Amino acid sequence: MLRRLHLEQPESFAFTPENRAWAEAQITKYPEGRQASAVIPLLWRAQEQEGWLSKPAIEHVADMLGMDYIRALEVASFYFMFQLQPVGSVAHFQVCGTTPCMLCGSEALVEVLQEKVAANPHEVSEDGKFSWEEVECLGACANAPMAQIGKDYYEDLSPERLSEIIDALGAGEVPVPGPQSGRYASEPASGLTSLSAFESGRTQYNASVARAVELGETVKRIDGSEEPLRTPWLDAWARGKGVKTANTSEAPKAPASKPRAEAVAPAETAVAEKAPETLSAPRAGGADDLKKIGGVGPKLEGLLNEMGFWHFDQIAKWTEAEVAWVDARLKFKGRIARDNWIEQARRLADGGETGVSRDKKEE
Ligand code: FES
Repeated sequence: MLRRLHLEQPESFAFTPENRAWAEAQITKYPEGRQASAVIPLLWRAQEQEGWLSKPAIEHVADMLGMDYIRALEVASFYFMFQLQPVGSVAHFQVCGTTPCMLCGSEALVEVLQEKVAANPHEVSEDGKFSWEEVECLGACANAPMAQIGKDYYEDLSPERLSEIIDALGAGEVPVPGPQSGRYASEPASGLTSLSAFESGRTQYNASVARAVELGETVKRIDGSEEPLRTPWLDAWARGKGVKTANTSEAPKAPASKPRAEAVAPAETAVAEKAPETLSAPRAGGADDLKKIGGVGPKLEGLLNEMGFWHFDQIAKWTEAEVAWVDARLKFKGRIARDNWIEQARRLADGGETGVSRDKKEE
């Protein structure tokens, strides 16, 4: 199946401060030189933030990890978990179309989606709530036919049941995942033939379904309000960065119930602004292409030029106070640090490359 970048792309991407802090913490899991190992969690977080993975988001993650863009794109385009085009705001249906599911009726499920959601895969429904696609085996063949909806599996589906699930999701409900035929798990469809003594001791749901019901996040995207992630290594990292975490008693001002989003946000320290040196015009030889700095588009470049910044070396020299001054005037607070403009400008001023400049060369 062809998995390509969407034709329409946003101009830029930046993690929210909470997601940026989370992403930086993930990177600390890996030894020096192995940061690229964090590519899947970071791409996933970017997708959870935006709903899908845009080219700027993939490049942003690649820049954070020091990877070539093509390497990050290879990962994003390989796995079905990554959506390379906008999806429905409520749910994206991934129907398994591989042989066992096909033999058990997956084609009829696709017909339901064509009728109720959109005629074509990867097309968002008219109300914007849903989208669908056919995917390869999702490893639940014993419960064929099945579909992944959001984060969970809905198994033993019939066209009628799938239709009801779509209606329920549209009405704001989240139907219980797992087998939809009355089966408990993946025991024989005709009933147990062994270990039947254990039947009476069953809990309401099998373990996977019980956990899904407990979390209640089947179609909910990460929004920063979730429980703190237990990341013991984070505390040493956070102390070095001056960031509070919700993991330890060493976060004295973070109440136990404080959402993680607030608990890990970088400590806000007011930095006095100082105006950097500016130029009234570019030096002889012409202005640098500031768009080679990842995160700077034509609009931001225009604003920077208006303010008197034309060259990489000007940006590379900004101090913290000068960043605060520029930040306040660009009205994109935090953007300079989030996209690491200064490090990128230093590289470019020294004759090096950034992901964007390499990309531009290849065009
Ligand atoms: S064939 Fe559908 S889950 Fe394996």
